[in-house]
Amino acid sequence: MPDKLTIPDLMEKMANGEPISMITCYDYPTARIIDRAGVDLVLVGDSVAMTVLGHKTTLPATMDMMIIFAEAVARGCERAFVIGDMPYMSYQVSVSEAIRNAGRYMAEAAVDCVKLEGGRAMCDAVRGIVHAGIPVMGHLGLTPQSASAIGGYKVQGRSGQAAINILEDALALQDAGAYSVLLELVPARITEVITEKLEIPTISIGAGAGASGFCQIFHDAVGMFEAFTPRHAKQYASIGAQIREAMDQFVADIKDRTYPGPEHSFKVASDALNEFLEYAEKR
Ligand code: KIV
Repeated sequence: MPDKLTIPDLMEKMANGEPISMITCYDYPTARIIDRAGVDLVLVGDSVAMTVLGHKTTLPATMDMMIIFAEAVARGCERAFVIGDMPYMSYQVSVSEAIRNAGRYMAEAAVDCVKLEGGRAMCDAVRGIVHAGIPVMGHLGLTPQSASAIGGYKVQGRSGQAAINILEDALALQDAGAYSVLLELVPARITEVITEKLEIPTISIGAGAGASGFCQIFHDAVGMFEAFTPRHAKQYASIGAQIREAMDQFVADIKDRTYPGPEHSFKVASDALNEFLEYAEKR
């Protein structure tokens, strides 16, 4: 059994300039495959509300729902460090609720840390969770839970002041005890500078190549999400197309009676069959 990755391992990777890999995951069989491939960080993202449950935003994700997905993923990961994404309104209302919900993730789902969106405004919650002994990853730039307030799903930090705000938020999260910061949809050069200024790893999703690590949504990476493919996603497989082909063939096999064949059926011993046929005839 491989050793579980730890925060000191991630810090060492960052110090050695070795990029950290991160991907989202929502179920046990996929978690096993991802873990065996050697991905470092596995995020049970609230993106599950969109990628798996078909909602238009991440907002309908709840703690109870996330715990179920996270439990399955944690069971499938022996080596990868598993991150439970704090869903909408699970940490914004009060620090004590944030600590309680982060604690639920650790105790009920056995994740290794939590992630939450927001910078300086969320630092009390981050401090409280970290003081409770739970590692926290911050999330800045495009923060989908506040898409409505920040003007939609678009690149953040394009003006000087907006970029300064992201840097200050990142520094504040580090001071509050976050062990890492995810930067989503931030211009590449801004990410590079923020990465230089921080002592903790940055993870980029659509934030260029200058971070300490890189993340993708699993369904984008394997070609499973047909609603849209973001510009920053790289597709490594066309699993959606392969599933479609398989299902087309399944339907065709049923129609022309190719499936099930004798090799998919079970036999019964002749004395049992005779007894049954004799009985059936009289019914
Ligand atoms: O929920 C999620 O999948 C995320 C990604 C943007 C990394 O937070």
